[in-house]
Amino acid sequence: MGCAIFCALKLQQGPSPSHFGHTRSATSDKHRKGSRPCFLLLSSAERRSPGLICPDHALDQPSLPRLKDPALAFSSFDTLLQKIETRAARAGIIGLGYVGLPLAMAVARSGFAVTGFDIDPGKMVALDARRSYIDAVSDAALSAEIDAGRFKATTDFAGLDECDVIIICVPTPLTKHRDPDLSFVEATSRSIAAHLRPGQLVVLESTTYPGTTDDVVKVILERTGLKSGSDFFVGFSPEREDPGNQHYHTATIPKVVAGDGAEALALMKAFYGAAVSSVVPVSSNATAEAVKLTENIFRSVNIALVNELKTVYAAMGIDVWEVIDAAKTKPFGYMPFYPGPGLGGHCIPIDPFYLTWKSREYELPTRFIELAGEINSAMPRHVVGKLAEALDIRAGKALSRSKVLVLGLAYKKNVADIRESPSLRLIEIIEERGGRAEYHDPFVAEIPPTREYQALKGRKSVALTPETIAGYDAVLVATDHDKVDYATLAKNASLIVDTRNVFNRLGLSADHVIKA
Ligand SMILES: NC(=O)c1ccc[n+]([C@@H]2O[C@H](COP(=O)([O-])OP(=O)(O)OC[C@H]3O[C@@H](n4cnc5c(N)ncnc54)[C@H](O)[C@@H]3O)[C@@H](O)[C@H]2O)c1
Repeated sequence: MGCAIFCALKLQQGPSPSHFGHTRSATSDKHRKGSRPCFLLLSSAERRSPGLICPDHALDQPSLPRLKDPALAFSSFDTLLQKIETRAARAGIIGLGYVGLPLAMAVARSGFAVTGFDIDPGKMVALDARRSYIDAVSDAALSAEIDAGRFKATTDFAGLDECDVIIICVPTPLTKHRDPDLSFVEATSRSIAAHLRPGQLVVLESTTYPGTTDDVVKVILERTGLKSGSDFFVGFSPEREDPGNQHYHTATIPKVVAGDGAEALALMKAFYGAAVSSVVPVSSNATAEAVKLTENIFRSVNIALVNELKTVYAAMGIDVWEVIDAAKTKPFGYMPFYPGPGLGGHCIPIDPFYLTWKSREYELPTRFIELAGEINSAMPRHVVGKLAEALDIRAGKALSRSKVLVLGLAYKKNVADIRESPSLRLIEIIEERGGRAEYHDPFVAEIPPTREYQALKGRKSVALTPETIAGYDAVLVATDHDKVDYATLAKNASLIVDTRNVFNRLGLSADHVIKA
């Protein structure tokens, strides 16, 4: 990895740029006018060699100036790039949750010293005890980085002073009116501003609408009087964590990177290139922000589509899962998505609405997003409707007099994450309709406090035994965890409503198992 040289064509008639700040602003001006700036990554020796020109423009710009000013070697950019290249840079990761802690481990493993920051003292107690609270990070992996002196965690933001690269991984939820809640990002940006110094790279990883990094984070940081692109640098890189995925993890998932200006992008490439297997640079922070939203909107819309097809095909006596299994044999132009009891997790139910909110500024509707949201959020009620119908027809029993076991509280299989889980809504709807609901989840022993479902706090997972199973009027499968004895369930339950097609997959189809 080398140092950076810029050439902004047709701006070369003036005096040679005396430092990167000058070169950058010329480049940015030209960029705004649509001309293509040229940016090369070169070794230090190459950069200092006289006569260096951009090969793209070598022929049409013979009078390109040489970058000879020794002050260049001491620019904020140069210094930081060198620290990154030599792993002398310290990274500060703010927000040690599902995204921040695995990222901290990946960055530490690549040789950087990492300080993790969080406002949650409970997380500090766990980390001090070398106990990971995130499935993707083992206690052993955490201990290894602490022992190697590459990871420490604190609630004291004064430690930001010593960090060269600062990465923000705090929550970006929706308000109760479903507008973006950037309060965590803003609070964190203010904490960083209080410690900002020249030569730092500040990166936002939280999912958000296009424009947040430049219009919110950068603006708060520039209130210090320091300038992005010359004193400090700002970038965006979306997180692509998939909790429970056995094949991909932080270090092996390609990482989209962007920066505010060419220097910031070069630093982003250098830093993330050291920590993950491949980086995908894009032209602006807003583009990278849009990439993340596009990925999540794609999932939300496709899941809504199969949820709608599920209800239509069911009315026609067609099994949507059989349709999907056959459709996915097409070797091109089709990608399988599966129906379920509703959307869950921290991303898919929330992130698309960040774009909906932003698009209002442009007086443009996001009809696909709204429609997908409508269909997906109607799913829990649809599923409980199917359950009530099955109880009525097969057992002659009203839901209001029934006892139901909801199987799986986590929003997806084999993880303990219950954020936005449709299971919580299923329990709520069953109880609104007068039924009694209990749950079993091998990963969630007790329902923790949640903002939306406070009444469910403290309920405990019931044991799955032939006797307990037989005590319920119906079992509603919301999450198809692998660690469940489905054969025992099939044998002992009087009625099973399966939203995941797990019984069919396991060859346990039976008359008392219906799909919803
Ligand atoms: N979980 C995922 O799989 C996933 C995937 C892709 C993107 N994201 C995005 O990444 C961001 C973080 O998500 P997450 O799942 O890691 O959230 P999380 O709730 O697991 O973790 C966030 C952490 O930030 C801490 N925090 C909150 N405010 C803080 C502050 N002012 N200073 C320091 N720490 C603070 C919280 O205590 C918490 O530990 C969100 O924008 C989310 O949309 C998440």
